[in-house]
Amino acid sequence: MATANTNPSMPADFLWGAATASFQIEGATREDGRGESIWDRFCATPGKVKNGDTGDPACEHYHRYPQDVALMKELGLRAYRFSIAWPRILPEGTGRAETKGLDFYDRLVDELLAAGIRPFATLYHWDLPQTLQDQYGGWTGRATAEAFAAYVDVVSRRLGDRVKDWITLNEPWCAAWLGYGWGVHAPGLQDPALAIDATHALLRGHGLAVPVVRRNSPGARVGITLNLTPVHPATNSPEDQAAARLSDGLSNRLYLDPIFKDSYPADLLESFGHAPDIQAGDMETIGAPVDFLGVNYYQRVVVTADPTGRKPLGEPVRVEGADRTAMDWEIYPEGLRELLVRVHRDYAPAVMYVTENGAAFDDVVAPDGAVHDERRRAYLEAHFAAAARAIADGAPLEGYFVWSLLDNFEWAEGYSKRFGVVYVDYETQQRIVKDSGRWYARFIGGGVS
Ligand code: FCB
Repeated sequence: MATANTNPSMPADFLWGAATASFQIEGATREDGRGESIWDRFCATPGKVKNGDTGDPACEHYHRYPQDVALMKELGLRAYRFSIAWPRILPEGTGRAETKGLDFYDRLVDELLAAGIRPFATLYHWDLPQTLQDQYGGWTGRATAEAFAAYVDVVSRRLGDRVKDWITLNEPWCAAWLGYGWGVHAPGLQDPALAIDATHALLRGHGLAVPVVRRNSPGARVGITLNLTPVHPATNSPEDQAAARLSDGLSNRLYLDPIFKDSYPADLLESFGHAPDIQAGDMETIGAPVDFLGVNYYQRVVVTADPTGRKPLGEPVRVEGADRTAMDWEIYPEGLRELLVRVHRDYAPAVMYVTENGAAFDDVVAPDGAVHDERRRAYLEAHFAAAARAIADGAPLEGYFVWSLLDNFEWAEGYSKRFGVVYVDYETQQRIVKDSGRWYARFIGGGVS
């Protein structure tokens, strides 16, 4: 069994874990009847993903999961957040279920439970069946939300006796804005109005799925994971503050308000000049009570007003002298404390988890065979300390999932960005626990031989 948390800075039952996502680690994209996802199509479109990388081989986790679960056990993880690939379960998006796909997650869950690791299953981490994109316009169509609930029904019937922690969606902001608004993620569409529509369909899908999981998984706890971003005005000028407030609307309130307050932020929709098609009952659906909120934290944003007034949300400012990761994201641990305390104050979720936090650095295997990623270790230590301060300030934080267990396919960046506490050699599929992983294991009371 994984040991209890022995770190004095956190409550004794604090849940230390690590996170991954199906498309980023599984590989085996054409095996066992898996259907095409929008990410397969996006990867196959020239120029969309760095170096033309695709979902293969990734970490070949589809076949190597027993070894990976053994590694998690050795690290002393108490929980593991993974995602389920919709196109493995329903290859055409709706209708016929693929038994072999379900069998895979069944085996994974059993392996985790046998290792004493609590499974947190994310039901959607961006790998939408391509058929739904073709038929309904993906998340811009209302029918996709209903299709999601039907898929969740199939999954939670099969796994609901053993999985008791469910996350409906990962980061609807990214799915909507990167995928439909700015075109840098699948399906690669570029229209802010579509991103608003996608936001509404994603949130409806979430709300429809919550009671389905509760029905099929007695005693389950259901939540959603949002990527949230503290927004700071560059100066105290009224213009900068107004821009920061609207920018906060897009990054945070557009998702938190409908889930916890049954409404969309009026100031933001007004500035966009486009509102979602809200039909009777939609806001009640979206506002289905959740048991916890998952927060993914990577960076803050500092904004300045656009002097021409053409961009009411202002423009991001690069903080001079700031320490940055290989993604060029500012390292700002205090933002995590600020965020958790603010969400607790403004929205009062019963429980919060950090469902992702971590950093990419340019890791290399040293001549001694190890990966000396001191910067990642320091990054994690500083963010854990910020989380401890948030708890001291009253935030009901019960666990923390490091992104990521393994180096993996970092979306449009392909395999060029490494986030793991475990290094993956994609040629040989060898795993090497990085120094940060060894440190994390000791920090949470485990250890690596
Ligand atoms: C988040 C995603 C996750 C990973 C990290 C770096 O936005 O949820 O899959 O790519 O960023």
